[in-house]
Amino acid sequence: MTILLLGSGGREHAFAWKMIQSPLCEKLFVAPGNAGTAAIATNVAMSPTDFDAIKAFVLKENVKMVVVGPEDPLVKGIYDYFKNDESLQHIPVIGPSKLGAQLEGSKEFAKEFLMKHNIPTAAYDSFTAETVENGCAFLETLQPPYVLKADGLAAGKGVLIIQDLEEAKTELRNMLVHQKFGAASSKVVIEEFLDGIELSCFVLTDGKSYKILPTAKDYKRIGEGDTGLNTGGMGAVSPVPYVDAVLMEKIETRIVKPTIEGFQKDGIEYKGFVFIGLINVKNEPIVIEYNVRMGDPETEVVVPRLESDLVELFLSVANQELDSFELKVDPRSATTIMVVSGGYPEDFEKGKVITGLENITDSIVFHAGTKLDGKNVVSNGGRVLTVTSYGDDFQQAIKKSYQNIDKLNFDKMYFRKDIGFDLL
Ligand code: AMP
Ligand code: GLY
Repeated sequence: MTILLLGSGGREHAFAWKMIQSPLCEKLFVAPGNAGTAAIATNVAMSPTDFDAIKAFVLKENVKMVVVGPEDPLVKGIYDYFKNDESLQHIPVIGPSKLGAQLEGSKEFAKEFLMKHNIPTAAYDSFTAETVENGCAFLETLQPPYVLKADGLAAGKGVLIIQDLEEAKTELRNMLVHQKFGAASSKVVIEEFLDGIELSCFVLTDGKSYKILPTAKDYKRIGEGDTGLNTGGMGAVSPVPYVDAVLMEKIETRIVKPTIEGFQKDGIEYKGFVFIGLINVKNEPIVIEYNVRMGDPETEVVVPRLESDLVELFLSVANQELDSFELKVDPRSATTIMVVSGGYPEDFEKGKVITGLENITDSIVFHAGTKLDGKNVVSNGGRVLTVTSYGDDFQQAIKKSYQNIDKLNFDKMYFRKDIGFDLL
């Protein structure tokens, strides 16, 4: 079959790498893709949110399945666009409906869903410009630090954690009244701060049944020791050594099951990934967010650990036969280390020629922000490449990734040298 994958990051390169290994995948298009996907599939210069262009392409190329990487097209309703179009409705889209995507598209929607279905989450209230003074009064009832979340999509920057009460009030006004994050912060969720260890749970659902995917942890801060600014993610490890069977059981019964049942009770069509962000407070997992897609760079360690055929897995989601799918997972550890442009997540330069890629044989290099410039692969984003390795344990895998990163070079390249430091 012919498949169209939407997106251009390391997550999409990892999906593409796995999907082309399937005998079911005869032709893979990636829109817009990067230099890594260009080497194994066919890139198409098309925006993942230009639904009319996607329609024309899908019909012209006889595409039989669409796999959505990032959240944007999902929040904008690509699932519904296909479902409501007579010429497209037979083509499955892997990703939730527009309503389901609100779990990531609106923090308030997610909080209401969590409360309604009795899924453990931090206490909260939400405010608008009209109720900003009530918001300030609410802050006074809380203990620091204060957690302010822009309701809408803010490219991962919409959450502020502030120690000082007066500063929190100022930021709340900045968000609501001065539109600090544009329309995304015309509503703000103020949430109780949870003190514990963060972890993520990745689930694939067909709307009726679900499979829990291997656990993974990412490293969000730019600096070593988890310091400095937030990034999209600087590395990841799978499995997460401290997630044991007892904790996983709690996550499944208290969070995953009620989430999928909640979709059914609320009539939310959902055939895709659910990425549940959790904080483990004294061994009690509590939800801090939903994402309606896979994580990046978590995908670059989760997907390499799937032994099952990914296209077959997606088809079982589309056909609502996930229940009978046997998910096989590689018992080895996988780690990935992200190589970024100097300056990221603030200003950085693009177009740097990358050398040494051909010297890496025992790790997998997934491209995150690259493009082809003549014969050269050049940097084309903040996160540029991510180097994934397997090992009997995560230390062994990490060592291999670092050995191979030493073979890579581009001007001002940077990576964290301490991925996994907290797991020892
Ligand atoms: P989110 O976009 O909701 O994942 O928030 C971004 C980051 O803020 C998370 O990765 C956490 O580190 C932190 N965070 C979010 N909500 C809370 C909370 N209620 N308590 C403590 N930290 C939080
Ligand atoms: N790595 C975190 C995310 O994809 O949101």
